[in-house]
Amino acid sequence: LHILTPDRSLAGRRILVTAGPTVEPLDPVRFLSNHSSGRQGYAIAAALAARGANVTLVSGPVSIPVPEGVHRISVQTAREMLAACETALPVDVAVCTAAVSDWRAKELAPGKIKKTGDGPPRLELVENPDILATLCRAAQRPRLVVGFAAETDDVLDNAKAKRLRKGCDWLVANDVRQGVFGAMRNTVSLIDDNGVQSWPEMDKTDVAEQIAQRIAAFFADPSS
Ligand code: CTP
Ligand code: CA
Repeated sequence: LHILTPDRSLAGRRILVTAGPTVEPLDPVRFLSNHSSGRQGYAIAAALAARGANVTLVSGPVSIPVPEGVHRISVQTAREMLAACETALPVDVAVCTAAVSDWRAKELAPGKIKKTGDGPPRLELVENPDILATLCRAAQRPRLVVGFAAETDDVLDNAKAKRLRKGCDWLVANDVRQGVFGAMRNTVSLIDDNGVQSWPEMDKTDVAEQIAQRIAAFFADPSS
């Protein structure tokens, strides 16, 4: 039946998805990054494209294929990711699943950092731009901005505070004590103006379906 009546509920919607880690070089051979596999973000991009959305996926380095019908832009650093997102505007929706490296080296060493015999080097870090917060405050703010939050402690309280601090409409909170990185399954809660909805553990592809369905419902009835 699904094949006979494809769901085109997001046809014509422009949607930006960020996914994967960012990679911040320290010198020509080393970098700072994290364990993000990109799976949840890629599944969301796929679910949105399957409903007819025009999806731009701005992605750090991952080892999964580009979903059908999705336009991927590959980036390395947080600053490159921000620039690619700003270039993709205007969009109707932004879904920020990327695990953006919070810091980068203040200075990129032009040559390989060598052991000196005087102990380890002092790496000075600076904070990266916050892509989600920047999109929320952009002159061309998407109508719907969805953030993710990886937390290990006080998951819901931290996530609620994070949603307000960033200024996003929905925040999907995920408890990363349960080994979500690289896993196929995920346990999340969705926080919006109406409160918290906790979903049972499910495949990341099912989390993606739920989110895509909610986005379609939002455009069908923005007051819902
Ligand atoms: N995010 C982003 N740019 C950053 C940091 C985070 O776009 N520089 C986005 C992530 O894609 C995610 C949300 O913000 O949608 C929350 O990321 P998270 O790392 O949980 O929040 P932080 O504000 O970085 O707080 P902390 O890591 O200290 O918990
Ligand atoms: Ca962070």
